[in-house]
Amino acid sequence: MKNISLLGFMGTGKTTIGLGLACALGWDFVDTDSLIEQKMGMSIANIFKEFGEKRFRLEEKEVIAEAARKVKQVISTGGGVVLDKENIDCLRKNSVLICLEASPDVIYERVGGDNSRPLLRGPNPLEHIRDLLKAREPYYRCADFYVDTSNINIQEAVEKILTEL
Ligand code: S3P
Repeated sequence: MKNISLLGFMGTGKTTIGLGLACALGWDFVDTDSLIEQKMGMSIANIFKEFGEKRFRLEEKEVIAEAARKVKQVISTGGGVVLDKENIDCLRKNSVLICLEASPDVIYERVGGDNSRPLLRGPNPLEHIRDLLKAREPYYRCADFYVDTSNINIQEAVEKILTEL
């Protein structure tokens, strides 16, 4: 195993658990959203606002391809990374793919009011989370294994992943 890539919907804990996992393994931690923000010199919200989702997805694809070339990293991906099969094929070459899951209510509690996530803006975020989760469910089936983070803390999630590896 060269890398671990964390997939999953917004608010499932990819960044926090990824950091814990990287720390436990002594590996680098890479967050693809942060790499895109650094590369473009602007926030994800502003990238969506100024250039649109299509451009964001192109940047995401480039950053994924670059990250996938290195080893000994925990790669935390954006929730929509699974929508492009080439991203998954690229990550799978060097990574175990772990999908983090959580219930819509828990996701809403964690990120429902977060304006930095452009796809969660709108009049009824909980309903939108349910709809988006349902639409994406088939895409998340690409993982090697799944961890439900709804009722566990970061440390427990890290331990669960370490025992599954
Ligand atoms: C997105 C999730 C976000 C970010 C962007 C799009 C998505 O990442 O990449 O707002 O399509 O689900 P997180 O999953 O880290 O919130």
